[in-house]
Amino acid sequence: MGFQRIGVVGAGAMGLGIAQVCAAAGCSVRLFDVTPGAVERALDTVKKDLSHGVSKGKLSQDEADATVARIVPARELQDLSDSDLVVEAIVERLDAKQDLFGALEAIVTPDCVLATNTSSLSVTAIAATCKQPQRVAGWHFFNPVPRMRVVEVIQAPRTNPGVVDALVELSKRIGHRPVATSDSPGFVVNHAGRAFVTEGLKLLSERVADHSVIDGILRSCAGFRMGPLELLDLTGLDVSVPVMESIHSQYYGDDRYRPAVLARTRMVAGLLGRKTKQGFYSHDSAKEGPATIAAAPVGTPNVRVWWPVEGPGAVSSNVASLLGGITRQPAPDHADVILLAPTTGDLSTTIGAMALGAARTVAIDPYFSGPSGVTLMTSPATSSTTVDALRALFEARQIPVYVVADSPGYVAPRVVACIINLACEIAQQGIASPADIDAAVRLGLGYPAGPFEWGDRLGLRTVLEILQALHKTFGDQRYRPSPWLVRRATLGLSLAAPDRAA
Ligand SMILES: NC(=O)c1ccc[n+]([C@@H]2O[C@H](COP(=O)([O-])OP(=O)(O)OC[C@H]3O[C@@H](n4cnc5c(N)ncnc54)[C@H](O)[C@@H]3O)[C@@H](O)[C@H]2O)c1
Repeated sequence: MGFQRIGVVGAGAMGLGIAQVCAAAGCSVRLFDVTPGAVERALDTVKKDLSHGVSKGKLSQDEADATVARIVPARELQDLSDSDLVVEAIVERLDAKQDLFGALEAIVTPDCVLATNTSSLSVTAIAATCKQPQRVAGWHFFNPVPRMRVVEVIQAPRTNPGVVDALVELSKRIGHRPVATSDSPGFVVNHAGRAFVTEGLKLLSERVADHSVIDGILRSCAGFRMGPLELLDLTGLDVSVPVMESIHSQYYGDDRYRPAVLARTRMVAGLLGRKTKQGFYSHDSAKEGPATIAAAPVGTPNVRVWWPVEGPGAVSSNVASLLGGITRQPAPDHADVILLAPTTGDLSTTIGAMALGAARTVAIDPYFSGPSGVTLMTSPATSSTTVDALRALFEARQIPVYVVADSPGYVAPRVVACIINLACEIAQQGIASPADIDAAVRLGLGYPAGPFEWGDRLGLRTVLEILQALHKTFGDQRYRPSPWLVRRATLGLSLAAPDRAA
């Protein structure tokens, strides 16, 4: 299965991108669409994109011309009859895709592979009405195809493994990182991306912080390109809420995928995001975006701080060094502010266990605090004077401060732990390998690290402790740690370690 003659059905955003990357790799492409003029418009778009590449020096004019010449418009479906592979990128409807594959089976050779670019339908259901379901697989690209260099190769239960191998090879030939996955809701990228948004919404509905603070922490402290609430404003709640609800129900209501009620309420209210000019943020003016951090209180801070160096709330020397030059008071009684960094529970629980003065006590996120931002966490008893005093100390050192309410795992560690836990479940269920999950998450979602790399970096015990603290505090099955994580943490293995005997 060398795949040299490729048919593409559907010349919309995805079909034209797939045609372009296949043609650029030297394949002959036949492009078909039912809408008159769609193929011509697609070819114009491809030409423009390639010309842009030429002007940036990414390819020569000859290469661009040769790529366009390899994409031949098909007048009818029959023109695809001599294809080795036909990829469909038509409307996202099961009946339409099943009808198309039925029509294709009547005209292509028995060896021709049929691939679907569906993003949310079951590949198994598309294959189920085919005479030869073993030749059907998913080949799921991301938009825009020439720039999103990752593609999922989806194996349905009856797909011939040789078909998957051949699509993996072709993916490499066209310069995309293939991610092999078995057919399951969300495949890998959209499955692994669930926790980021649903946990962001959960933090918002618990009123741990407002939307701009949650987004700010995840951008500045954890390195995400965009926070979850900004992302929802970009995609629109009318798109995101049905996807969240569909994945939740496809996993039979597993609490790990549960969206927050407030998302549906806001969708019904029409607060969809950018498209209605009002989402979590106002988009009325082009200038308006995520709120910036409030200005620092005026005055030179002169604050006496105490922090424990051992025990449940211990503050490590790394974290204390962010306060550079502050002398640690000899005892909590001498301090205006008591700083803790609890790792096994929320701040309130830790204050209770240590019998400290609650009004003077604040926590600092020890995992994601650094010169680009610190997260300070309050208990219900923490006084605003205490918060302001500590905030002034950091801001005097040019370190942005995000203040949040009590939450086991703060904000960033909690979201990252949920992402890692879900990725562990994907590996545990054999949907994809840790290396493929990491690649899918970095390239498909643009996260700063893959979940398995991140787990190893943070430490498996740390991730486990955060999840256990969340599970204990809320009694919510959402936070139950994946056995993949628990076993590897217990045995001191890397999070990506496969089962040796498997
Ligand atoms: N847009 C994305 O971000 C994205 C990402 C990944 C996957 N997908 C999937 O790719 C597919 C196409 O998405 P898109 O965004 O390119 O859609 P689109 O609306 O831009 O293009 C679809 C094209 O298919 C044509 N078409 C519809 N029915 C047809 C048929 N029976 N035969 C031939 N042509 C037909 C339409 O005329 C249209 O030109 C969908 O299954 C979608 O879920 C989309």
